[in-house]
Order: sequence, then structure tokens, then C-alpha cells
Amino acid sequence: MTALDTLGRPLRDLRISVTDRCNFRCVYCMPKEVFGRDYRFLDRRELLSFEEIARLVRVARGLGVEKVRITGGEPLVRRDLERLVAQLAALDGLDLTLTTNGALLPQKAPALAAAGLRRVTVSLDALDDAVFGAMNDVDFPVARVLAGIDAAAAAGLPVKVNMVVKRGVNDAGVLPMAEHFRGTGHILRLIEYMDVGSTNGWRLDEVVPADELVAAIDAVHPLEALEPNYPGEVARRFRYRDGAGEIGVIASVTRPFCGACSRARVSAEGRLYTCLFGTRGHDLRALLRDGSGDEQVEAALAALWQRRDDRYSELRSASTADLPRVEMSYIGG
Ligand SMILES: C[S@@+](CC[C@H](N)C(=O)[O-])C[C@H]1O[C@@H](n2cnc3c(N)ncnc32)[C@H](O)[C@@H]1O
Ligand code: SF4
Repeated sequence: MTALDTLGRPLRDLRISVTDRCNFRCVYCMPKEVFGRDYRFLDRRELLSFEEIARLVRVARGLGVEKVRITGGEPLVRRDLERLVAQLAALDGLDLTLTTNGALLPQKAPALAAAGLRRVTVSLDALDDAVFGAMNDVDFPVARVLAGIDAAAAAGLPVKVNMVVKRGVNDAGVLPMAEHFRGTGHILRLIEYMDVGSTNGWRLDEVVPADELVAAIDAVHPLEALEPNYPGEVARRFRYRDGAGEIGVIASVTRPFCGACSRARVSAEGRLYTCLFGTRGHDLRALLRDGSGDEQVEAALAALWQRRDDRYSELRSASTADLPRVEMSYIGG
């Protein structure tokens, strides 16, 4: 059965957060002032178990889910994550991927690939240590993320690199990043700084419009637009005219893409969010733990999706600016 929401959009893509914890404190995601020592992170028993996640995904497959992205917080800080990857990889034909800050990839990449991960997205906001430190706020060195990217590639995992661009902080590093990854086979994706959560002090003037980023690269290394890989793809794709590969831009602020959005997100404690800007999640954990059968879980999931009418990014305006919002580190990017 394919579930369609009120705007006719199918559910194809699940993003599952496996932890709300992280070894970084990126200023646009988990600012130290808020996620400091006194912040209450979820307890271990509040988290969905790997078995519960695998069951949920198996049920969601029945509603048309084709792709699962494991995220967080930082997913690789969850112990034995490769066990979850193995359980999900056992589900036939599922496109299984992971977003990570890369810090633990040098140790983890071989086990993740062996467990059946298909590909990986690594976040890296700068090649300069001082600038990267100002973004991750724990002085994490660039070289160790690059080592993580190399480890993933060596393990046979195709790599995308996510760079969130914040005006005045790392925008001068966009061209150097493009030049670093041109010709490597890794696809750089430039992401507009988004107004997710309510702790990062987001301001519109800190967003660098994706068109400006593409123009800056195109001026030096001519680009041409590519067709989307599939309907609803969030990244707009470009190829270098000289054949040195591809980049993507995710313009969720300047060109919202709610129209074809087929994603749902599950927080680490099992709450379903039908929009990144959702204010309220729906408790799936209770259902997974109260003896309900798979059919009941499927019916509940279908009913939640069928009620969905979210298109926050398209409506973004003064009237939505003050709504309470869930943090990115809680439901994953
Ligand atoms: C929340 S992180 C979780 C996975 C992992 N810790 C990582 O950083 O890749 C997922 C993605 O969301 C991006 N992100 C976080 N906050 C953002 C924001 N305010 N605007 C745009 N992207 C953001 C991150 O850069 C990362 O690529
Ligand atoms: S973006 Fe990822 S690495 Fe950075 S603080 Fe958020 S969860 Fe952690």
C-alpha cells in the first residue's frame, strides 16, 4: 500500500535519528550555551532499540518507504551502530545511507561497509582549521574528517560532503572546498543555513543564497545544471563542464521544496515528525512497546502520513517565525 498525504505526496524516505548526543557543538545546530553540561540528553532506555528501529522500517517498507538515512545527533557515537546497519541492510532493496560528522569514520567505516551500508554523507564546513573550529566549536581538526572521508572511500562507500554555509563565517571557503573535491568523485553539497530549532539564533542575513554559491564556483569552474535523479530530490545538481564531477546545492530557504517532499523523520526516542519544522512529534515508541502488531503499527503510520499537510518552508513568514521548533540534533538533518 502507498500512503499519500493531503497534498498527494507519498512517503518514500525515512530519516532516523539514533541518538540526540554529539561529539561536536556546531554553532548552527547544538550551540554550547544551550547544549552545555546541564542539558538533559535522552537516557539510553528512552532510545528506540535497534530491533525496534528495524521493525519500524520493515513496517514502513510496506507503505512505500524506499530509502532510510541514519542520522542524529552524531550516529557514530551510538555503540555498535553496525548492528543496526546489518539489520536494515537485510531488508531487500532498501537504499540505506548515513550522515555523520566523520570524526569516528576512520575506526568505523570498514565495519559499516561490511554490514551493508550503501553510501555515506560526511559533513565538513571548511578546510581551514580555524574556520572549521569556529563552526564545530570543539576545535576538531579538518585532517581527521578528511581521514574519515578517505576511510569511507577505501571501504568502498560512495561519499557526499555536506557543507553548511554561514555568511561571514565560512562562505570564503566555498571555492576552496569545491576545488578540493573536484575530480575526487566525492560530491560536494552546499547547504543554505536553515532556521531549524530555536537555539542557533538564525538570521536571514546569515544565509548565503545557493544561487550566489553556484555563481561563485561557475565563474571559475564553469557548471551546467543536471536533471534531478528522481522527483523530489532535495539537492539541485550541477556538473563541471570540464568533466571534473558534480556538486549539489540545497536551497531550502531561498527555494523551498515542500511540493515533492516525501520524507518523515523519527527522533531517537521514536517520535515521528512529518516535517523538519514540525513542532509536535507523534509517539511511535509507545505503539512499538505496547504489544501492537505490525498491522496496527502500519495503520497508525499510514494515518499519520495521510493527515499530513506540512509545507513550512513554503509558508516561512513572520507568522511562522515564532512557532516553537524541534532541534536538528534531535530529529536529524
Ligand atoms: C543534524 S546533522 C546529524 C548528522 C551528523 N552529526 C552530521 O553532522 O553530519 C545532519 C546535517 O544537518 C546539517 N545541519 C545542522 N543544522 C543545520 C542548519 N541549521 N541548517 C542547515 N543544515 C544544518 C548538518 O550540517 C549535517 O550535514
Ligand atoms: S550538525 Fe551534526 S556534528 Fe554538528 S552538532 Fe549537529 S549533530 Fe553534531
